[in-house]
Amino acid sequence: MSSAFPHRHLLGIEGLSADDIRFLLDEAEQWVEFNRRARKQDGRLIGLTQINAFFENSTRTLFSFEIAGKRLGAQVANFHVDSSSVKKGESLTDTALTLNAMQPDVLVIRHEANGAAAEVAEVMGCPVINAGDGSGEHPTQALLDALTLRRRFGRIEGLKIAICGDIRHSRVAGSNLHSLPLLGAEVRIVGPEELLPPSPPPGFASFTDFEEGISGADVVMTLRIQRERMEEALSDSLGDYHSLYGLTRERLERLAPNAVVMHPGPMNRGVEIDGDVAEDPERSLILDQVEMGVAVRMACLDVFTRPDRGA
Ligand code: CP
Repeated sequence: MSSAFPHRHLLGIEGLSADDIRFLLDEAEQWVEFNRRARKQDGRLIGLTQINAFFENSTRTLFSFEIAGKRLGAQVANFHVDSSSVKKGESLTDTALTLNAMQPDVLVIRHEANGAAAEVAEVMGCPVINAGDGSGEHPTQALLDALTLRRRFGRIEGLKIAICGDIRHSRVAGSNLHSLPLLGAEVRIVGPEELLPPSPPPGFASFTDFEEGISGADVVMTLRIQRERMEEALSDSLGDYHSLYGLTRERLERLAPNAVVMHPGPMNRGVEIDGDVAEDPERSLILDQVEMGVAVRMACLDVFTRPDRGA
C-alpha cells in the first residue's frame, strides 16, 4: 500500500481492511524505538492543531494522544467537558461546530454515546479519530493491542485469544472482535451470559464457564465490568464475580505454556484480575499495551493528517 490511506476518519475498526490495519501497525513500529530515546521530537505535525475532546474520563487514551501529538510537533488543545459549555446545555453538534470554527487539523473524541464520533465527523472539516464511543468502538485500543501481540509473538495469525468479562458493554471488545479475526486470530468470548453480546457474533466460540473458555489460550484479554453502562439490577446480580471469572494465578495454569495476559485498563484488582497476575513480568503485557498506545496514536495522527489520505 502507498502512503495514501483510503479513509478520512478513524471511526472504528469496522470498515477497515486487514491491509489497512497492517499499514497502521507498520507505521506505528517506527515510533516504538523513537519513544525509547532520551529526546523525542519529530516535526511532521508542526503548525497543525490537534483538539482532544474528551466527554468522558480517561487516563491512558487522553494522555497518550496528547503526548503523541506533542512528540510530532502539533499544538495540542484539550477540551474538558466538566469546564465546558456542555454543562450549560450545549449540544454535541453545536460543540463540534464551535470547535470546527477554530480550524483544527485533527479532532480526537471520546464520548459516552455510541455513534458520537460519527455524528461529529459529519460536521467537522478535519479528520476525526474515535477515542471511544459508548459501548461502540475504541479503534486505537484495538490497534495498540494488535501491535503489542504482534511484537510479542511475531504474528497474530493462529493465536488463540480469549476475550473475557464484560463484552456486552465494552468498546474495546467492540473493536477487537473486528480486528483480531481479520488478522487471523482464533477468538473466543468468555463471560457470564448477561455480559456476553445478546446475539453473539457468528464465528466466535462463546463460553460461560471461565476455566473452560480460557483453556489452551495463548492470550487472555480480560475486561473491566462497566457498571456505569449497566442497569443497577444487572450490576447487583453479578454477585461474587471474582470467584467465577477473576483471573487468578491458579487459573493461569490452564493457559498455553507461553500465554500472556492483557487488560486495556483501568483494571479493578481483585475483581476481574488479581494484582499478582497483572504484575507478573513473564505473563502480563498490560504496561506494554500502554507503551504501544503512544506509538499507535502517533501513527494515527500522522496518517490521518496527511494531505493525500482518503476522502
Ligand atoms: N483503555 C482505555 O481506554 O483507558 P482510559 O479510559 O484510561 O483511556
